[in-house]
Amino acid sequence: MTADPARRLRHALAVSVPVEDPAWRDALEAVPRELFLGEAVFRPSGVQWEPVHRRTVGQEEWLRLVYQDTTWVTQIEGVTAVDAPGPMAGRPTSSSTLPSLIMRMLDLAGIRDGDRVLEIGTGTGYSTALLCHRLGDKNVYSVEYDPGLAAAAADHIHTAGHSPTLLTGDGLAGHRGGAEYDAIVATCAVRYIPPAWLHQVRDGGTITTTISGWMLASGLIRLTVHDDGTATGRFTGDRIGYMLARPHERPPRPTFRRRPGQTRPARFDPGLLDDWTAQFVAQLAAPSAELMTTSDGVILVDVATGSQAWTEITGDGWQVHQHGPLRLWDAVEDCLTAWQEAGAPPQSAFGMTVNHDGTQHIWLSEPTGPSWNLPV
Ligand SMILES: C[S@@+](CC[C@H](N)C(=O)[O-])C[C@H]1O[C@@H](n2cnc3c(N)ncnc32)[C@H](O)[C@@H]1O
Repeated sequence: MTADPARRLRHALAVSVPVEDPAWRDALEAVPRELFLGEAVFRPSGVQWEPVHRRTVGQEEWLRLVYQDTTWVTQIEGVTAVDAPGPMAGRPTSSSTLPSLIMRMLDLAGIRDGDRVLEIGTGTGYSTALLCHRLGDKNVYSVEYDPGLAAAAADHIHTAGHSPTLLTGDGLAGHRGGAEYDAIVATCAVRYIPPAWLHQVRDGGTITTTISGWMLASGLIRLTVHDDGTATGRFTGDRIGYMLARPHERPPRPTFRRRPGQTRPARFDPGLLDDWTAQFVAQLAAPSAELMTTSDGVILVDVATGSQAWTEITGDGWQVHQHGPLRLWDAVEDCLTAWQEAGAPPQSAFGMTVNHDGTQHIWLSEPTGPSWNLPV
């Protein structure tokens, strides 16, 4: 047993997290997470985020928090925890991903010694440093969108003794300077695979990412890039999600107001959309719609056209009101029907194909099965 409390906690974390490739466990043992969390993080407090400062909780408690297998949110709506005047409302814009999820992504990517990897979303730099420990600094490239976060991550990574290629900018464009990569790993979610990623990965290389959207449903996938310029893969079914890449975030919309429209009985109980896979299916059906849950079921608002659908309880079930050029609930019900007719399989029954012209679709069961285009 070591007297160094950080090392002891790091060891406990490294042995407790599920890892397939032991080389990643070695990286967890070696990289001090406390170097990446700065002086403060946010923790959830009711509907708000409360900053927690190292100096307030004391070093012992701070290290205990650092080495929990937890995602620590570090930025809310562009405000870092150390600068927050107090509890804040809003959506997280950066975090240190929970170590077990980083391990899952790196295992899934199938990375081997000597591989060259492009990471999208440097964040705090912790996962970048884990990659450096395994692959050597010269094989690691990482892009962060937010310049302030990128500068802080560079400090953290250098303090940890690593000097990979760090870039500030939009990771959706990849980084041509380091191509071709054996793997691209995204720690932010995308609505579709950016074409640049496809062009920058070698034949047989992989893209590991979460596909998400404006309903915030999410699916983890590893795509293999083929020599004909296409990529294919199957969703893993893991119930995990990342924040959307900033250029793929949902645009703001006006306050929702119910508008008169056509009304009919709903064929599905809107509560079905609480299910992980059903919500993913609904997002495929209405890819530019936002989903809100209310005591009356759900509201769908299409960000592109303003179309809306909302459900309501009636004496003997549910009815739906639809307004605007898109019949959002019709589309969702059609998609849910196709899924249920296939036996309502889990998300791992879905796969994805990216064509060489950049168009892409998600299919059910097999590439020739029912499919839905992604909003490229
Ligand atoms: C979940 S955090 C990354 C966690 C990080 N891997 C770690 O371990 O600390 C996601 C990051 O992606 C960044 N991001 C969002 N959109 C991006 C984009 N288009 N290009 C590069 N980074 C992006 C966010 O600013 C945020 O820092």
